[in-house]
Amino acid sequence: MDRIIIRGGNRLSGRLPVSGAKNAALTLMPCALLTDEPVTLRNLPRLADVDGFGHLLNQLGASTAIEGTRPEEFGRVMTIRTGRLTSTEAPYDIVRKMRASILVLGPILARAGEARVSLPGGCAIGNRPIDLHLKALEAIGAQIELAAGYVKASAPGGRLSGGRYRFPVVSVGATENVVMAAVTAKGSSIIENAAREPEIVDLCNLLVAMGARIAGIGTETLEIEGVDRLHGATYAVMPDRIEAGSYACAAAITGGTLDLVGVKADDMRATIDALVEAGVVVTEQKDGLRIAGPDRLGPLTLSTAPYPGFATDMQAQFMAMLCMADGASVLTETIFENRYMHVPELARMGADILVQGRTAVVKGVSKLVGAPVMATDLRASMSLIIAGLVADGETSVARVYHLDRGYERLEEKLQAVGADIERVSDG
Ligand code: EPZ
Repeated sequence: MDRIIIRGGNRLSGRLPVSGAKNAALTLMPCALLTDEPVTLRNLPRLADVDGFGHLLNQLGASTAIEGTRPEEFGRVMTIRTGRLTSTEAPYDIVRKMRASILVLGPILARAGEARVSLPGGCAIGNRPIDLHLKALEAIGAQIELAAGYVKASAPGGRLSGGRYRFPVVSVGATENVVMAAVTAKGSSIIENAAREPEIVDLCNLLVAMGARIAGIGTETLEIEGVDRLHGATYAVMPDRIEAGSYACAAAITGGTLDLVGVKADDMRATIDALVEAGVVVTEQKDGLRIAGPDRLGPLTLSTAPYPGFATDMQAQFMAMLCMADGASVLTETIFENRYMHVPELARMGADILVQGRTAVVKGVSKLVGAPVMATDLRASMSLIIAGLVADGETSVARVYHLDRGYERLEEKLQAVGADIERVSDG
């Protein structure tokens, strides 16, 4: 198992390239199942979850060719070809390791008229049900059966009919699944209270490039006119707004100045607004954002919400940053029921945080002290890295495989902007 060792105290400074978005990549890749023509994705981040998804696509009969990028380059070009599906099943041993595998359900069902996908099970941040995925697919004509831990889906007559569905709560993954299933349905579909995250816009843009007919992209109502077939396309994955926001918190907590290259300000307005309110100077530049941390951060009151609200995926990173603010901050996590796993680890470093239900009160302290800590989930592990950058002494983060799921070459990027950070292997 690898660990990451950080010796805190350095102000970050320099240019940091932002990679392609993990949560866009994981919904763009399954689109290649919808056509027998090649789909080429550029700016694909080099991440464990992307590799895992590639293996899943291979299991289904798709080829995934990585094309000419030098190892020192960030991101990759992958061409996915699904001449035909050799399987319509996503097995438990794959799905349990990567929940996003559930995103092959809609595409397999649309392509083959049937699908058998393992229920993903829960994870560290919550039990993560998929009832909304299934209800939305039923609304556009799928027949769904749950048996022995699997979802068995079928389309009568081999093709989904299309239909209308209004989500009772916003769900990113369920919106992605039903959109990917609806684009080649016999008829039209209307999806209401759809998720509006930039990753959904990226998905719709790729599908349109493949010949899909989608109106209302970026709004909460998507109108999809089913087409008989989709063709291949070449598409660049959007930059990762959560990675960028994470490094912005790193710059802020160290009082440093970082140029985040490649990120789009419009994808992360709520994050920018929160940073500015905390006293961070954010300058929009033609190639990204300049983040200048103040000598002392101000406290914030934040509540996570679906886009365009403050992203739940930014909560842990902001909590780490606000441990050093001048006053008490109040964070409320409205999306997941157990997304405070980073709190006891931050407390080991001297943070003063009180959690009551969905709310955490973070009292700013004058310093954090490095300690051995444990990563528990992706964004929680990034909050420990952020805390380690400012802590006195050495912080050792174990189970960094959580980080490798969502942050491309993290220690290289941070070393390049002045962090004293290294990865060590415990064999
Ligand atoms: C996506 O997860 C992201 N993952 C998550 O990022 C992100 O935190 C989340 O959206 C919210 O923005 C990927 O895109 C791969 P949801 P998803 O469906 O789709 C409940 C990260 O750190 N719900 O929008 O699973 C659910 O329990 C990861 O990069 C149901 O009740 O999130 C949650 O409370 C973590 N039934 C809420 O809705 C369902 O069928 C929002 O979940 C589906 C969801």
